[in-house]
Amino acid sequence: MKKLFVLALLGIMAFATFTCSAAQKVLRVGTEPTFAPFEFTNEQGEFVGFDMDLIRAMGKEAGYKVEIQNIGFDGLIPAVQSNIIDCAASGMTITEARSKVVTFSNPYYTAGLLVMVRKDNKDIKSYADLKGKNIACQIGTTGENKSRAAGGKSVTAYNTNVEACMEVVNGTADAVINDAPVVAFYLKTPAGKNCKSVGDILEAEEYGFAFNKNNVQLIKDMNKALATLKKNGEYDKLYAKWFN
Ligand code: ARG
Repeated sequence: MKKLFVLALLGIMAFATFTCSAAQKVLRVGTEPTFAPFEFTNEQGEFVGFDMDLIRAMGKEAGYKVEIQNIGFDGLIPAVQSNIIDCAASGMTITEARSKVVTFSNPYYTAGLLVMVRKDNKDIKSYADLKGKNIACQIGTTGENKSRAAGGKSVTAYNTNVEACMEVVNGTADAVINDAPVVAFYLKTPAGKNCKSVGDILEAEEYGFAFNKNNVQLIKDMNKALATLKKNGEYDKLYAKWFN
């Protein structure tokens, strides 16, 4: 009797452990964190920003423990494809080319590209004026594509967005092409105080979270979570936190 009781108890304990760990599914998220206010690191080295808050909230809503790691921007899609991460949360624009190899969540933010130059620059007033200029951008981004199409004298693609912007600050590059909300944020930082944006937003771009094409259930769950957060006011709260 006693033996049976102990066995039953052990069984219950094993089952409890199993269900607990099953409830603690992990969502492995990759990001390139030099893209404030969407993703950057604070003094404690934690990943912070709109995307980071949103993906954590979505993960929580869908029942996941969210773990975030730093991956170079041009390495994010390959990492999703090879299942090294489950999701790329990195201010990533939904494009036709990318949609061929990954599945994006429903759009969660509307942005667009903008040209940034030094304040003392007199001859670049818009994208059209980049002909013959030295342009900086971040590798693998829509900004890089736009830079290469601008007819510049040179295009240099940097691993991080911070490096690309730095080239404008210190005069190595005439202009950087970067996402408009990131430019706006940068202009308010000490590093950006001698910079300005010129011209209009080039065209609207929608951000999405990228998933492996085979992860059909996860994509469904995450879209459902996003819709819930949009409905219950949580999305608006995060938006106000980072963009007001
Ligand atoms: N939206 C642009 C793109 O998708 C730039 C994204 C850069 N993101 C980053 N975390 N560095 O190409």
